Amino acid sequence: MVSTASQIGPFHFDNVLMNAAGVYCMTREELEAVRHSAAGTFVTKTATLEARAGNPEPRYQEVPLGSINSMGLPNQGLDYYLEYLLELQETVPEKTYFLSLVGLSPDETHTILKKVQASSYNGLVELNLSCPNVPGKPQIAYDFETTEHLLTEVFSYFTKPLGVKLPPYFDIVHFDQAAAVFNQFPLTFVNCVNSIGNGLYLEEETVSIKPKQGFGGLGGQYIKPTALANVHAFYQRLKPEIQIIGTGGVLTGRDAFEHILCGASMVQIGTQLQKEGVGIFERVTAELQAIMAEKGYQTIEDFRGKLKYID
Ligand code: DHB
Repeated sequence: MVSTASQIGPFHFDNVLMNAAGVYCMTREELEAVRHSAAGTFVTKTATLEARAGNPEPRYQEVPLGSINSMGLPNQGLDYYLEYLLELQETVPEKTYFLSLVGLSPDETHTILKKVQASSYNGLVELNLSCPNVPGKPQIAYDFETTEHLLTEVFSYFTKPLGVKLPPYFDIVHFDQAAAVFNQFPLTFVNCVNSIGNGLYLEEETVSIKPKQGFGGLGGQYIKPTALANVHAFYQRLKPEIQIIGTGGVLTGRDAFEHILCGASMVQIGTQLQKEGVGIFERVTAELQAIMAEKGYQTIEDFRGKLKYID
């Protein structure tokens, strides 16, 4: 029997598929829908210290090859997600979930992480270094010095399993430089990739979303080759203790298969989950299992990272 189970650090997941942060994860109701679907786990909407309303609407638009968004970090605030996760820890202690977070400043990030450290939360934490949509706040992970400084401070007090959500990089030198930074730290995972930041999509003569004069992060089919390149680039460069989560352009079992071939240990679905709803996890799982069965792979580990090159 083919299994799509996987692991991140010491944590086991019955299925390699899950939502990507930002989709189906703003409220308990949405998170419950993912939890009761075929997904292996969920990640919460990136939380700031206080709740935020985000940018004015329309701020998310489906387009033929994916999506464009400039949500502006709407979320219910850290306490909302932390309380829910602590409840789940009591009721389903055998399951592990991901708490996504970032501060609007380095100080706020430390305040948030210190709260999580002081709590009894024992799941995974994803520090989002790649939000492209808050006016005036650049993506942290495009500044390697800032990233190194932030992670140095974080790991001076934070001892729970922590990973980072990364934006796509587009230059081999940047893969090298970013990996050299991340390899200095006891990260549990890196998640590649967030949206390709600041695209523009036009309808007739007009932009398609209201914030930032239409500039927004791209997701969906547009971004799969970029996502796969980032997954594999970090798979090649990071120390083996740092696992990779693959995100970007997953619509089918074949797309998930490709992310795993490139080195991903979990695969997240964003844009297509928004389009299709939580039934997508059953469909993509069945498609992935069919590919594995046809190729004679029984587990994810039989082919994870085993991308073939042309000699
Ligand atoms: C938002 C978008 C992102 O890509 C992200 O990583 C965090 C927040 C947003 O606009 O809400």
